[in-house]
Amino acid sequence: MQKTFAIIKPDAVAQGHAGAILAEIEKAGFKVAALKMMQLSKDQAEGFYAVHRERPFFNDLVAFMTEGPVIAMILQKDGAIKAWRDLMGATNPEQAVEGTIRKRFATNIERNAVHGSDAEETAAFETRYFFNAMETVG
Ligand code: RTP
Ligand code: MG
Repeated sequence: MQKTFAIIKPDAVAQGHAGAILAEIEKAGFKVAALKMMQLSKDQAEGFYAVHRERPFFNDLVAFMTEGPVIAMILQKDGAIKAWRDLMGATNPEQAVEGTIRKRFATNIERNAVHGSDAEETAAFETRYFFNAMETVG
């Protein structure tokens, strides 16, 4: 079964939406293969989002991702990468379709509740960035 990497972002954790988001994840048939809560340092967030370093929103994004705790997860399902991106919804919640997590819980294009890897290579990099083998089941 395919694995992907997911984050419940600081906005959703602070607003008390982590439980509802986990319920959506389980309802959609994902198995949680790893999960931990942590607060990212500036260096850790910059490394995670290194592909966006040249983007105008990079500094804001790093500030947002370090403002409070996040919940990092490995999710397992057939076609997990696409299935999780579909359940998350569009980056901008104004464009997210009904029934998606971002439609329900995101505030705006930056404070958008969840992260998901967008390809096999990014899923592998992001998973290893956050979790070691002893922290993972399945
Ligand atoms: P993610 O990587 O977090 O799963 O989100 P994504 O693929 O849907 O979006 P991406 O283009 O990779 O952007 C990463 C995160 O940066 C913030 N962002 N802010 N202010 C802006 O215009 C802007 N654009 C993107 C969001 O938090 C986005 O999820
Ligand atoms: Mg992305």
